Amino acid sequence: MWPVRHCPTCGEESEPSGSHCPHCSTTIKPTVQAEQSPNNRPMTHRPSRGAQPRQSLPASTILVNRYRIVRALKSGGMGSIYLAADNHLGARLCAIKEMLDEFQNEGDRQEGQEWFAREAQMLGRLRHECIPEIYDYFVENGRFYLCLEFIEGENLEDRLARQGTPGMPEKQVLQWASQICEVLNYLHSQTPPIIFRDLKPANIMVAPDDSIRLVDFGIARVFSAVRSATMVGTPGYSPPEQYQGLADPLSDLYALAATTHHLLTGNDPREHPPFAFQPIQHYSNQLSEASQSLLEGALRLELSERGPPVNEFGRQARRITVELAQGLVPGLGGSLAAFAPGDPLPPTRMAVPFGGLSFGRFSKGEEHMVNFPVMNEGPHELRTTLHANVSWIHVPEGQLRVPCGSRAPIPIRLDTTQLPTGLHRASIELDGNGGTVSVPVEVRVAHWLFNPVTALMLICVSFAAILGVVTHLFIQYLHP
Ligand SMILES: Nc1ncnc2c1ncn2[C@@H]1O[C@H](COP(=O)(O)OP(=O)(O)OP(=O)(O)O)[C@@H](O)[C@H]1O
Ligand SMILES: [Mg+2]
Repeated sequence: MWPVRHCPTCGEESEPSGSHCPHCSTTIKPTVQAEQSPNNRPMTHRPSRGAQPRQSLPASTILVNRYRIVRALKSGGMGSIYLAADNHLGARLCAIKEMLDEFQNEGDRQEGQEWFAREAQMLGRLRHECIPEIYDYFVENGRFYLCLEFIEGENLEDRLARQGTPGMPEKQVLQWASQICEVLNYLHSQTPPIIFRDLKPANIMVAPDDSIRLVDFGIARVFSAVRSATMVGTPGYSPPEQYQGLADPLSDLYALAATTHHLLTGNDPREHPPFAFQPIQHYSNQLSEASQSLLEGALRLELSERGPPVNEFGRQARRITVELAQGLVPGLGGSLAAFAPGDPLPPTRMAVPFGGLSFGRFSKGEEHMVNFPVMNEGPHELRTTLHANVSWIHVPEGQLRVPCGSRAPIPIRLDTTQLPTGLHRASIELDGNGGTVSVPVEVRVAHWLFNPVTALMLICVSFAAILGVVTHLFIQYLHP
């Protein structure tokens, strides 16, 4: 059945299949039948009438005889976003995203329409609390419309402009970053993976309860290793590979790190040459080394060197948030990264205990955790791996990353269960861009009798026994 329609000029009811308004004679294209959305919700799809002058829709405009425009929320590059009421569903509020047909040529028009349809279909498939639900899509009077779940709140670009001094609080930003990682993980775990490709503060909305939503899936594309000639994304936030039309889950990681950097420092990457990010402490010495270390890895230009993966980035961001909330200086907990190095890194200066390290004295048959201090005194990040030449020393697996100027205590496990008593010597090798260093270490294993606690207990028991004997003899002497 054809739905009832209203004339876009005079607003009077018109014949759904007619080509002209019976009241003012405005040309009206006939409506086509509703299509099914990918998630089986009806999608109203109407043909375009051609280019329209660029103008926001006034309040009370009725679209497809159903959606009443309340007001414009935003006007963007390709159209506006409106708050609207859905007259078919008891005036339920929704957001209507409009895309104007102002394309210069048929090729651009085709591409714009494809983006629009792709956004509709992709959103229709996705189910995540941080992604707005799509209710409908349609084309009317040369404008394309998406009807979306209305998100109360503001985007992070506006929030930063309103509250940034010039950046936002680190705890808050890292908390948002960890939430974004969860959505990115969801997108990247689709088959095939979906790369968002345009992560930036303007495409992240924050609700009054500080939960975030990702908007603007216009350019999110199903991951494909196939190279496309067009660059998609926003200069400043996009990694180098996106300039060549390539995208990878780590491209979203880069954009997330660029976004986090922008929110922490207030420094807009669009106003600088691309790929140039100063350490965050350059803007405020209140910002933690831990956040800088995390961003530094995620902003690497080479895909093979970029990391950690999105889920680990989220885990580290959460840990930093928790430590900041506890009033602690966040540690470099993420320094033992699991990803492999790419090209050789520029050399730096590694400092380890001079002349070796004595771990001390332990009683036989126990496991002990000790710290092995490594300092990076050079100008670049230190990446190194540790090896021990004996089986009773267990060093952490993977690569140790120490930002320049920091000291990292590396946890080492000593297993003395198989060791005879006495002094034992071994060495720990460190290999990486700080050079190759072998540090002699020693440990003294004592018999359990020489354990200070057992020794004290023995002394106490002996003393009590002697006291008992003396008391007994004394009583016997007094009362023979
Ligand atoms: N579902 C929604 N509910 C409420 N507001 C929204 C919604 N979607 C988007 N917005 C607001 O509208 C702005 C623009 O939306 P969106 O990014 O989807 O459009 P755009 O025109 O493509 O923007 P850009 O030019 O940055 O690519 C967002 O930054 C946000 O403030
Ligand atoms: Mg946008």
